[in-house]
Amino acid sequence: MLNLTQRLVFCALLGSVYASCPPRCECSEAALTVKCVAKDLRNVPAGIPGYTRNLFITGNQIGRIGPESFKGLDNVTNLSLSNNRISEVESQTFAGLRSLRSLDLSNNQLAVIHPEAFTIHSQSLRELNLSRALYNHSSVMDLATSLRWSSLGTLQGLDLSDNSLIYLPSRIFSHLVGLRRLQLSNNSLVAIHNSTFSGLEQLEELDLTLNALKTFTEEGLQELDSLPRAVLLLGENPFTCTCGIEPFAVWLNKSQGRIQDPEVLVCSFPAGMRNTSMLAVGTLTLVCHQRDAGADLALQTSYVFLGIVLGFIGLIFLFVLYLNRKGIKKRIYDTRDACREVWEGYHYRFEIDSDPRLSQVSTSADA
Ligand SMILES: *[C@@H]1O[C@H](CO)[C@@H](O)[C@H](O)[C@H]1NC(C)=O
Ligand SMILES: *[C@@H]1O[C@H](CO)[C@@H](O)[C@H](O)[C@H]1NC(C)=O
Ligand SMILES: *[C@@H]1O[C@H](CO)[C@@H](O)[C@H](O)[C@H]1NC(C)=O
Ligand SMILES: *[C@@H]1O[C@H](CO)[C@@H](O)[C@H](O)[C@H]1NC(C)=O
Ligand SMILES: *[C@@H]1O[C@H](CO)[C@@H](O)[C@H](O)[C@H]1NC(C)=O
Ligand SMILES: *[C@@H]1O[C@H](CO)[C@@H](O)[C@H](O)[C@H]1NC(C)=O
Ligand SMILES: *[C@@H]1O[C@H](CO)[C@@H](O)[C@H](O)[C@H]1NC(C)=O
Ligand SMILES: *[C@@H]1O[C@H](CO)[C@@H](O)[C@H](O)[C@H]1NC(C)=O
Repeated sequence: MLNLTQRLVFCALLGSVYASCPPRCECSEAALTVKCVAKDLRNVPAGIPGYTRNLFITGNQIGRIGPESFKGLDNVTNLSLSNNRISEVESQTFAGLRSLRSLDLSNNQLAVIHPEAFTIHSQSLRELNLSRALYNHSSVMDLATSLRWSSLGTLQGLDLSDNSLIYLPSRIFSHLVGLRRLQLSNNSLVAIHNSTFSGLEQLEELDLTLNALKTFTEEGLQELDSLPRAVLLLGENPFTCTCGIEPFAVWLNKSQGRIQDPEVLVCSFPAGMRNTSMLAVGTLTLVCHQRDAGADLALQTSYVFLGIVLGFIGLIFLFVLYLNRKGIKKRIYDTRDACREVWEGYHYRFEIDSDPRLSQVSTSADA
């Protein structure tokens, strides 16, 4: 039985709890949770209670967040800002969230990410979700800078899926020395280069499914080998099973143990090889290799054959000349004589015609 005083105190407490809950939000002190979901908010609301551990401000119209957005929220452990329109994250935005372990920025439009956007002074952050969060591919340069500058050595999970990333800047993850899980699925990555994954010695899982990888070069395979502990997910890439895929196929056969579902990896091109298991390609490319060698051999053989034929024709020609040597000699002399006659005749006539005295002589003789 509550007496009047107790009721009043209870009501006052209840009132203060309600009073300290920002408008359009739901606060549960018992669950240490505040939710402001799909309420058309344009800014992070003021007056979020200090006890909050789990803060969800999702499905709103928030466009920009900065250091003033999250003051006095020492106890927030999980913060979700997914499904907003956040395009700019200022430096030190989350710096005061001393207990923050999980930050979800998925489904936003990050175009400007300041260098220290993800700095948290207590270095407590473990999970960062940037799935479908980048405005366009250009944002990845800002992201690379902020991942370098934000002291994220304690980060264990980074989700960069669904971002249309075409390439990853060199050494983009090199400061995430504690990272265990890296999601890069559903992007447009076409190649893995030398230092794409440098610094990720602790990585346990790398998800590259649903990208645009046609093959892995020796360089890319070396890079994957630099992550000795990581399980690799490589499915749903448009692997192109022509002769160039051989190093990848051989590597795959050798590395099956660390690839999740190696059986589901299939060729997408050429059409004739579609759905062929990548594990079977190793043997097929051997055939392709032999066919190459065979083609080379055929080409060499045909050159040799051509040479022999030409040589033979030359010999026959010389032999015919030899057989006809007398006739040829005679012809040469005949020709020479004929030439000489013609020449002399011409010379004679020319001299007569061109000497005026001789012509005069002949005319006077005629007269
Ligand atoms: C944070 O939680 C602790 C208990 O874990 C509590 O003592 C402290 O008052 C809380 N901080 C705020 C600002 O409410
Ligand atoms: C808070 O984040 C952790 C991961 O850091 C997760 O395991 C936990 O379920 C989250 N809690 C809530 C209420 O979302
Ligand atoms: C990141 O957020 C997306 C969408 O909100 C969700 O589907 C995904 O599971 C999250 N990633 C992690 C690692 O929790
Ligand atoms: C990304 O968006 C910015 C801002 O609108 C623009 O300047 C840039 O050209 C875009 N980049 C790409 C690759 O579309
Ligand atoms: C891949 O990401 C795009 C957005 O970048 C999204 O529209 C699409 O649904 C995603 N596909 C899958 C299978 O998750
Ligand atoms: C990749 O690394 C090797 C040494 O490991 C180096 O010789 C090569 O030049 C590098 N390639 C590129 C494109 O940086
Ligand atoms: C490849 O496999 C998929 C699913 O297993 C199937 O839908 C498709 O028809 C197959 N394509 C060919 C060319 O066999
Ligand atoms: C794949 O590896 C096995 C041994 O693990 C070997 O017997 C086989 O020849 C290899 N296949 C190819 C195509 O390299």
